[in-house]
Formats: sequence, C-alpha cells, structure tokens
Amino acid sequence: MTLLDIITYPDKRLRRKAAPVETVDDEVRQIIADMAETMYAAPGMGLASVQVGIDKRIIIYDISGPEDNPKLEVLVNPEIVESEGAQLSESEGCLSVPDFRSDVNRFERVKVEALDRDGQPVEIDTDGLHAIVLQHEIDHLDGVLFIDKISALKREMYKRKVKKALKKNS
Ligand code: NI
Repeated sequence: MTLLDIITYPDKRLRRKAAPVETVDDEVRQIIADMAETMYAAPGMGLASVQVGIDKRIIIYDISGPEDNPKLEVLVNPEIVESEGAQLSESEGCLSVPDFRSDVNRFERVKVEALDRDGQPVEIDTDGLHAIVLQHEIDHLDGVLFIDKISALKREMYKRKVKKALKKNS
C-alpha cells in the first residue's frame, strides 16, 4: 500500500470533476486501499479520489466513533438521487482545507446510489452525520469544497489566511 499526497486548497486540481469508473477492477481496489491508508494516517473521516489527484469517482469514509471498530465505507460512482430537509453541519472541516472549520448548511437526509468495492449496486438512505459526510465527499467529485457553501465573509477570511501563509513560505 502507498500513502498518497493530499492536495490542498488553492490547488486547481481540487476543482476538477472526476470521471465515472467504468469497471471496478483490481486497479480500482488498489486505489481504494491506498486511499484508505492515506485517510486513516491523516487522520480523516472521509476522502475523495479528487483529493489525491485521481480522476475517478471514488469516495471512502469511516464515521465509526473512537470506541468502535473501524468501519471503512467505499462508494464508487456515488450519486445523490434524493435529498430533503436541512441541518447545520457544525464545524465542518476537510483534509484539503487545513486549519479551518466552519458551520455549513446541509440536507438532513439523502439517498445515494453507488457501486460497492465489488462493483455491486448499493443504495444508502441516511441522515445526520452520515448524510453530511456523503454530501461533503460527493461534492469533492464535482470540484466543490465546503468553503464554497459558507458565507462570503468567512470564505474571504480563509482565503486571506492562505495567501498570507503562501507568501510566508515562498
Ligand atoms: Ni473534504
């Protein structure tokens, strides 16, 4: 397995729309294994292929608590087919947007269709944190970051902070 580099904002590769996976084969399963190693090492709750520069629609996540056994979820070509309600995702964060958190408005419930790591169709109908993570990770596959969904004022604050940090390091 290989630890992959996680791309961070403002890298333009985060804005790409990833291509659908045609066949869930061993190459795809190798990518999933590398992504899992990378996510757990970070550590993070979720990771989308786009964040490691891979142009395929794959997301992984693990929302099990610290007391539980790790439970890796893998979705290939995930698509939100239904959504309803509203919830506030408190202090949302992202491995590609380091050192920043913000509340984000999300749907309360989503229904997602996808393929599992064996290429079998799966359907997930869920709410709460699980629904938040699905929305966050699927957004990545379309080049969308959580900072696109917060107030312009908060977003500008973050952009200024990044600019300053980049200047300092150049
Ligand atoms: Ni993210």
